[in-house]
Amino acid sequence: MSKLALLGGAPLTQNIIAKSTLASHKQAEREYLLQAYDSGHWDDWPEQESMASRFEREWADFCDSKHCALLTNGTHTLQIALETLDIGAGDEVIVPGLTWQATASTVCDVNATPLLADVEPDTLCIDPVKIEAMITPQTRAIIPVHLYHRLADMDEITRIARQHNLAIIEDCAHAHGSQWNSKGVGTIGRFGSFSFQQSKLMTAGEGGSLLMQEEELYWKVVSQRSCGRGYHGFQVHSGNYRMTSFQAAVLRGQLLSLGANCQRIHRIGAALDKAIADAPGVAPLKRRDEITRQCSYAFVFLYDKNTYDGLDCQRFRQALSAELGIDFHTVYTPLSHSEVYYPHTKKRHQLSKEYVKAIDPKRWELPVADELWKNRAVLTTWHIFGCPQERISLLTDAISKIYDNRKDLLES
Ligand SMILES: Cc1ncc(COP(=O)(O)O)c(C=O)c1O
Repeated sequence: MSKLALLGGAPLTQNIIAKSTLASHKQAEREYLLQAYDSGHWDDWPEQESMASRFEREWADFCDSKHCALLTNGTHTLQIALETLDIGAGDEVIVPGLTWQATASTVCDVNATPLLADVEPDTLCIDPVKIEAMITPQTRAIIPVHLYHRLADMDEITRIARQHNLAIIEDCAHAHGSQWNSKGVGTIGRFGSFSFQQSKLMTAGEGGSLLMQEEELYWKVVSQRSCGRGYHGFQVHSGNYRMTSFQAAVLRGQLLSLGANCQRIHRIGAALDKAIADAPGVAPLKRRDEITRQCSYAFVFLYDKNTYDGLDCQRFRQALSAELGIDFHTVYTPLSHSEVYYPHTKKRHQLSKEYVKAIDPKRWELPVADELWKNRAVLTTWHIFGCPQERISLLTDAISKIYDNRKDLLES
């Protein structure tokens, strides 16, 4: 019988994480929740002191941001950022082709056209070279996503944006607590958008926030999340995109945990990268020097099928999951053929034949994203950053074991 756990052998461990070393502040979350309840201020208004306004200040400080506005989720944050910048019909926005659908679908939701740029093969983030090649006179903005285990190249993207007078909206749904050149992500572009959905590094089940450095943008966002009410001379037609103070209460506790965990996530992430560098036929993602803190939503590395005599990447992921007792899978399906991105089919978007054609995802070729998705990327959730330091070598051991016994998998 094969030694490999996937083929009936003994696994290296039942669970590489064993007991997570990541801090959690559940008691603080409960206490804040009760305080929010007792206060009677369950909603979020800028003129009212509440759990929401307190979290807005704490979160802005933590991220080195001047302003923060809470919103319903990390989809509405992108939509409201676009609308605040007056981006809409006739405009184009460049987004990565490898991301969650919201990054692109919100562009359609404001009747603009998303241009899907391919990503860098060694960071999985939007490729600045591809951005530059796509810019037209209609292009108004770029939405770089700090995807999974790396940050987009913000120096280069900022240079391009300045040169072509484009706005940057950073999609930070995967990067709570990360820093670029020692500054919080989300403060480099005009807007930084965060999601607090259940799977994220900080969560209230659902929720979102926008960071911005210009006061005018802040009041425009506040107007838009509150049905277009006038604030400080700004009044923008909109709907209701407000979060409750109960969510903010949980998030205040979650922020205590992130504050305690972010250096550890950075350190264990680097140690996991090092373990990958020591294992056969796999490689860590490239880490730019400007990343001074990498607080990742997921851990990702790259697999090389040729070293494994052609063994399919999905089979490798399954074998690794079986050895280490946690799930390894692939990245998002590229948006050109994603199972959750088909904006051209929605009646709301049938504005003209040309527009429907322009937003059809199939018009885009994303060879790098496709190759990563099919053959290269191996991903597990951020919970792996709770792995005790002394157990990290199990990752190298598991990969070496699969490599040594690859013939069994190829013949099975
Ligand atoms: C990269 C990215 N952007 C935006 C979003 C949207 O956030 P939400 O689910 O809070 O609407 C997500 C959610 O998974 C995401 O991963």
